Formats: sequence, C-alpha cells, structure tokens
Amino acid sequence: MTEVVVVGSANADLVVEVPRRPLAGETLLGSDLAVHPGGKGANQAAACARAGATTRFVGCVGDDDHGVFLRRRLQEAGVDADHLRIVDRPTGTAIILVTPDGENSIVVSPGANSLVDADLARRAFAPDPVPRVIVLSMEIPAGTVDQAVAEAADHGVRVVLNAAPAQPLPPVTLRACDPLVVNQHEARTILGRDAGGFDELARGLLGAGARSVVITLGEDGALVADADGVQHQRGHVVDVVDTTGAGDAFVGAVACELAHGAELRAAVRFAIAMSAITVGAPGAQSSYPDRPAVERFLAGA
Ligand code: RIB
Repeated sequence: MTEVVVVGSANADLVVEVPRRPLAGETLLGSDLAVHPGGKGANQAAACARAGATTRFVGCVGDDDHGVFLRRRLQEAGVDADHLRIVDRPTGTAIILVTPDGENSIVVSPGANSLVDADLARRAFAPDPVPRVIVLSMEIPAGTVDQAVAEAADHGVRVVLNAAPAQPLPPVTLRACDPLVVNQHEARTILGRDAGGFDELARGLLGAGARSVVITLGEDGALVADADGVQHQRGHVVDVVDTTGAGDAFVGAVACELAHGAELRAAVRFAIAMSAITVGAPGAQSSYPDRPAVERFLAGA
C-alpha cells in the first residue's frame, strides 16, 4: 500500500559553485558543472522514501535525457515512479549557484512541470487504497494544488503543503493543511505582512485557517504550532557544504513520520535531523540519508 503520495515538480539541477553571486552584467568563472536530481516534489518524494515510507511520485518530465535520469534516480531512492508522465515539454531545469557558505541562488525553468494537472493528481489516488498523506508544493500550477487538496479532503487524506516558492493560498486550501510548512518569507507572503516575529507568524497562519503550521528556521530548527500551542524545536550545529534541498528533505521526512502515525512534534524532530545531515553533502536528493543514518545522528545529538 502507498503511504505517501507526492504531487509535484521534478527538475534536473544544473549546479555551479561560485566564489560569490554575480552582479548584474558581470561574468564569473565557477566550478565544473554538476547535474543532480532535484525539483521540490521529487526531492520530497525521495526523502520520504529514504526515511522509510512507501511513496509514490506524481509529476511530469519531458521525453529527454533529463527525464530518464530523474525517473531512474527516483526509483533508486525507492520511490514508485509509475505515475511520472512523459509530456511534450522539456524536463524542468534548475540553474543553481552555490557559494562557499553553502547557500544557493536558484532559477527554475518549469517546462514539463507546468503540465502537472488535476487529472494526473486524481489518478494518483485511484489504483489502490488511498494514501495516508499527500504532499504538495508550489512548483506546479496553483490550480492543480488546490484541486489535489480538495480531492485529498474528499478522501480523508492528510495534507502536507509546502508553500514554496512563496505565493498566497486560497482559504479553502489553507484550511486543509495539517501542517502547512513554510519558511518565514513564505509565511509573510501568505499573510501579506512584512512585520512580525516567528510566533506571531505561526499564530497568524493558524488564525488564517491552517490546522497546523511548521515554520522552518534553517540552522535554528523549526517552530511547530497547532491547537496545543507554539513550540520551538532546536536545530543542530553542522558543517555546511550545500543547503540545496534541505527544506525538501524536511518536508519528506515529516510526511513519512506522519504517515507512520507520529505526532507532529515528533515528526518535526526527526525531520530537523534529516535535513541537518543533508547540508553536509552537495546536491539535493544526492545528499539524503536513509533512516538508520538519521537515527544514528539523533542518538548522538
Ligand atoms: O528546493 C530545492 C529545489 O528547488 C532544487 O532541487 C531545484 O530543483 C528547485 O526546485
């Protein structure tokens, strides 16, 4: 039985290490090009499967080498990629610059991801009993996300929505999120507010209707907010090589733990550890640990 369905994007990540970000009109020389499997949705699916949940990915790639590469890497991570449709657009691509502090700048060309539609998402529920959790993010059309959320609600499936890249959400979609996972910038975009501390943002998102909220704080951990209150969970001090995809690893790990019956705070504790490990190696999916590695990390933390 599929425990988690991820409906989302798949990108070939074209990564160059640079000494700093280029200025407008400037040309910089960087490292050799590295090509990694990426895309928020595919990353979340890979992380979820690596963490131990039976996971299906629903998305689109082009009829090209990048599409073949992404399907293979999903399968190697243990993801069911049978619902990865081949469409008549190029596979999504992300151009990623990584600076020596491990931070990145990303431009995404969505390509095939633009054709992830509600019909494809609906079919993902059809072949066997409904999953326990559906994971969505915003690199596919917003209308598809809204319709998949409605479909999930009809089937009683728990919705984990990662509102990245940032964009406002309709109230009906927000009300289904359990949790809504955002960073502080995404939280501000949804609330339409420039100001406010993390507690205030979390309470604001609950007030706007989300059933539960997780605000990711990078190396400082995460804030969990629900009807039981707001709790800060600390991060881990680790050496940073590349933060790309750390947030997606977090989301995938949360989904895995919730699908296995964990309470949200326990799920977030596991997810913080998983994402902390990922920043120690290059790439997104390429850096994702398996469950035993996360458990060893937590035991030593
Ligand atoms: O969150 C990281 C991901 O964002 C990268 O893998 C890239 O593909 C972009 O989608």
